[in-house]
Amino acid sequence: MIYENMEWIQPDLVRAFQAEETDAYRICTFRDGWVERYGSDVLVSYQTAIAQERLTTELRLWSLSVGFNFTRVFARFLPKQNSGREAPRLITGDSSAPLQAMALERGLRYGIDFGAGYSTGLFVDQRHNRTFVRSLRPKNVLNCFAYTCSFSVAAATTGAMTTSIDLSKKSLIRGRENFLLNGQPITAHRFVPGDVMEYLPRLARKGDKFDLIILDPPTFSRSKIGKAFQVERDFETLLVNALEVGERDCHVLLSTNCTRLDEHALEVMGRFGLKASRRAGTLHREAALPDFPLGVGASTVWLTLR
Ligand SMILES: C[S@@+](CC[C@H](N)C(=O)[O-])C[C@H]1O[C@@H](n2cnc3c(N)ncnc32)[C@H](O)[C@@H]1O
Repeated sequence: MIYENMEWIQPDLVRAFQAEETDAYRICTFRDGWVERYGSDVLVSYQTAIAQERLTTELRLWSLSVGFNFTRVFARFLPKQNSGREAPRLITGDSSAPLQAMALERGLRYGIDFGAGYSTGLFVDQRHNRTFVRSLRPKNVLNCFAYTCSFSVAAATTGAMTTSIDLSKKSLIRGRENFLLNGQPITAHRFVPGDVMEYLPRLARKGDKFDLIILDPPTFSRSKIGKAFQVERDFETLLVNALEVGERDCHVLLSTNCTRLDEHALEVMGRFGLKASRRAGTLHREAALPDFPLGVGASTVWLTLR
């Protein structure tokens, strides 16, 4: 269904998501914005006031056509600079209801918070990668830049021990809550508030090894002591350090939202990492997401060590 260059997902895809117990997905992608569903709520992300207006108006038509009765609509502006990022604001629905909610992805539960900042707590464009993690049934997972630990939760539900590292203590608290939401005791898991770039060499010195490693850094960040991480500059070092703690047959996710690094660039990075650490391995990409147009969303590549 296309409303003048706006791509709204088709009713059969909505039914397919429902059948697999998923209610967090992209509903529409447009040049100047997009719409995503999180459980019974909707988030409209926009670059211009005109885009917000059109997306919100056409959302109503789309939701009638697929029979989705959303509870609330939130909206957030997509700024050019990270410094301009703000939490979503409620534009339709009960303003006295809690800003915390829950979304389902392939039967797993993830906490959503529309009041905790710019991001809601779940990146829907990582759905296929989380499913791939579950299919691998890893034993010992290292989740770098873990945010709300969605990858760790996915791995834990198939029996993995997990280590989640993030600079943000608040995000790791939400991560623990996500474990509990899925009936996973948190005692078997490590939550490390800290800088990945400092912690990886420590894990290597201790001799820790992992059979699955998630590398999904932000484009730019600064730690409390002022150390900057810049994905284009630092991803190679990050990967080489991560490979130090990768077991034989380890799977490594290379992922970024930086628009200057596409999947080809990640593959080049993967080959560089293998060469620099004198390891052998293969690269693959997961199937494209049905709710995202090609080339939209995070760029991701899997590296499997041999
Ligand atoms: C893009 S999000 C990661 C999303 C996550 N992989 C997921 O799928 O939900 C980036 C996260 O990296 C964290 N972060 C940024 N720089 C960091 C660093 N140097 N060390 C550890 N965590 C960092 C941020 O706090 C944020 O939670």
